[in-house]
Amino acid sequence: MEMIRIFAPATVANLGCGFDIMGMAIDGVGDVMEVSVGEGTGLAIKNSSDVALPDDVEGNVMTPAVRALLSAYGQNKRVEINILKKIRPGSGIGSSAASSAGAVVGVNELLGRPFGAVRLVEFAMEGESLIGGGAHHADNVAPAIMGGVVLIRGYSPLDIIQLPIPDNFYTAVVHPHITVTTCEGRGVLPREIPLQTAITQWGNVGGLVGGLALGDMALVGRSVRDVVAEPARKHFIPGYDELKHRALAAGALGVNIAGSGPAVFAVVDSMEGANELCEVMKAHFMALGIEADVYPSKISGQGARVV
Ligand code: HSE
Repeated sequence: MEMIRIFAPATVANLGCGFDIMGMAIDGVGDVMEVSVGEGTGLAIKNSSDVALPDDVEGNVMTPAVRALLSAYGQNKRVEINILKKIRPGSGIGSSAASSAGAVVGVNELLGRPFGAVRLVEFAMEGESLIGGGAHHADNVAPAIMGGVVLIRGYSPLDIIQLPIPDNFYTAVVHPHITVTTCEGRGVLPREIPLQTAITQWGNVGGLVGGLALGDMALVGRSVRDVVAEPARKHFIPGYDELKHRALAAGALGVNIAGSGPAVFAVVDSMEGANELCEVMKAHFMALGIEADVYPSKISGQGARVV
């Protein structure tokens, strides 16, 4: 069997206002896996990372993603995946998406790239469906595959736009060691929203896209607001309002929940700023007795790839 090694980046979904329709890839943090494809049938997944994952192949998000790809390919193949490094599940920075994205990008590569990026996103979304909560969204898998900042303008059919990345777009991500599953995070969302709430949200989505296109980080920062999911989810994150207040006082241009949480991200316009904000946000959780990992990062233009 031929084998390649894949890196699939962590991602921040929603970017505040863009619930289920926007996401971005971050630099340097992600899954690493070895993917092998050969003649035969069946899928084997081995976990050599230090993160506990479901033992059975059926419970792994990569399984429906790889099956969807092979079914579209129309030929049986044997696929083996060895996970070497894994983003912690339930962190909010796209752990399941990185797995699905890495798996489909790896298999596609070994088959000679029969599918383009949008088809790969469709296959990887099958993995997201497995994690429940009515999830069928691409705001983690699309940036994990394509890199950069993406807008999913429509799901049916899938219409994905890669947005410009300002040169000075950095982020500070903090992951407190508490778990909020996507299923829990979706369960608390309002099913309907008042018109005034929608108007505020539309303004911010437009502002965010405009800020990226204009390279205006101040506009990006003040548009990273969310009046739909953040109010319903923030109670999952200890001291969230205080954390946000501290990060904004320390120079963050905008702060919000990463995906369904519990990770939180801040938008900033320099790497020094990102480092400083990571320290501020980590200190918040440490003071509450909660361990936290931090990821200062430039926004990565690169998605899942052979390394
Ligand atoms: N858009 C999804 C949500 C992302 O907020 O539920 C999950 O990481």
